[in-house]
Amino acid sequence: MEKVTNWGIMATGKIAHTFAKAVNYTDGAKLYACASRNAEKAIEFGALYGAEKCYGSYEELAADENIDVIYIATPMSCHYENVKLCFEHEKNVLCEKSATLNSAQLRELIEIAKEKKLFFMEAMWTKCLPAFRKAKEWVSDGRIGEIKAIRADFSNAVDFDENDRLFRPELGGGALLDLSVYPLNFITSFLGFEPKEIHSAVNIDKLGVDMDEAVIMQYENAYASFVSGFDIDNENRAVIVGTKGRIAFNPWFFCTDTVRLYDRNNKLAEESITPHLCNGYEFEVMEVQKCLSEGLYESFINPLSDSLAIMKMMDSLRKKWHFTYPEE
Ligand SMILES: NC(=O)c1ccc[n+]([C@@H]2O[C@H](COP(=O)([O-])OP(=O)(O)OC[C@H]3O[C@@H](n4cnc5c(N)ncnc54)[C@H](OP(=O)(O)O)[C@@H]3O)[C@@H](O)[C@H]2O)c1
Repeated sequence: MEKVTNWGIMATGKIAHTFAKAVNYTDGAKLYACASRNAEKAIEFGALYGAEKCYGSYEELAADENIDVIYIATPMSCHYENVKLCFEHEKNVLCEKSATLNSAQLRELIEIAKEKKLFFMEAMWTKCLPAFRKAKEWVSDGRIGEIKAIRADFSNAVDFDENDRLFRPELGGGALLDLSVYPLNFITSFLGFEPKEIHSAVNIDKLGVDMDEAVIMQYENAYASFVSGFDIDNENRAVIVGTKGRIAFNPWFFCTDTVRLYDRNNKLAEESITPHLCNGYEFEVMEVQKCLSEGLYESFINPLSDSLAIMKMMDSLRKKWHFTYPEE
């Protein structure tokens, strides 16, 4: 019989609800426990998704001996402490993006995970999606030749709300850690982590968060670019252009189920549509469970070295922007 993975969910915000549905959908996954800083919220959340244990503190969740892996869904500025707490209690962790505020924090967490032999992964769910895996396959099979350019935008106009974490620098708000982390993951998955230059422009608003930014990455033989922001509505397409053809992702590229391959004459060569089974996050749940069942401490699909390299890129962008978070 397949082993059941007991999941614990830390926090009860927006994405925690989405993820809970994916856990409940996935074979071999059980939403065993949840936790909120507020016991009533935990009970309410637990009742919605059938959690056996509902804790009024993150400490109690981390200490529960029956949990196999904890999914952390708190704001960015909390991740470092939350992950450390889980590691102190010998728990495996899937932590929401961006994994930490900066690379120094992430490096420390990776060292602890390796020392304690615990599974650790940043929840970059895009990399687990079939559309993304298909594009990787087409590129490695040489279907588009040598990559010359990548464009991948992610913007989402959000009404201002002073309580929303997105507009609060002390919670790691702003476009970089919330949105740009997706195009950065996308681009580096195909072109690698060593662009010759990264050019950028940013708009830091009066609250002290980066509302939007534009980035051009110059590689030896290719360019990549993206725009992201909370004050821009965009189609959020992605395209990878090669010498023999191109790969086009449908809008909202980071979560789409549809990707198309075109030849040099703009003729559709292949189309791949793999509908989500639940809400798309089930592929990430499956990946974590696969790693745990194989005794792996990190995912080949989204290794910790990728998360760290991207965090370093985000550090260097912020350095150019003279932009720090209040905790730093
Ligand atoms: N993978 C994706 O598609 C995706 C999408 C959206 C967000 N995310 C990531 O998921 C994380 C959470 O995002 P979200 O949109 O779910 O945020 P959210 O709705 O604001 O929820 C965050 C939750 O964190 C907990 N929390 C702990 N300390 C907090 C503090 N000091 N201030 C506010 N909340 C605190 C709260 O839960 P309790 O009150 O229950 O403790 C809160 O409900 C972020 O890292 C974000 O980047 C990922």
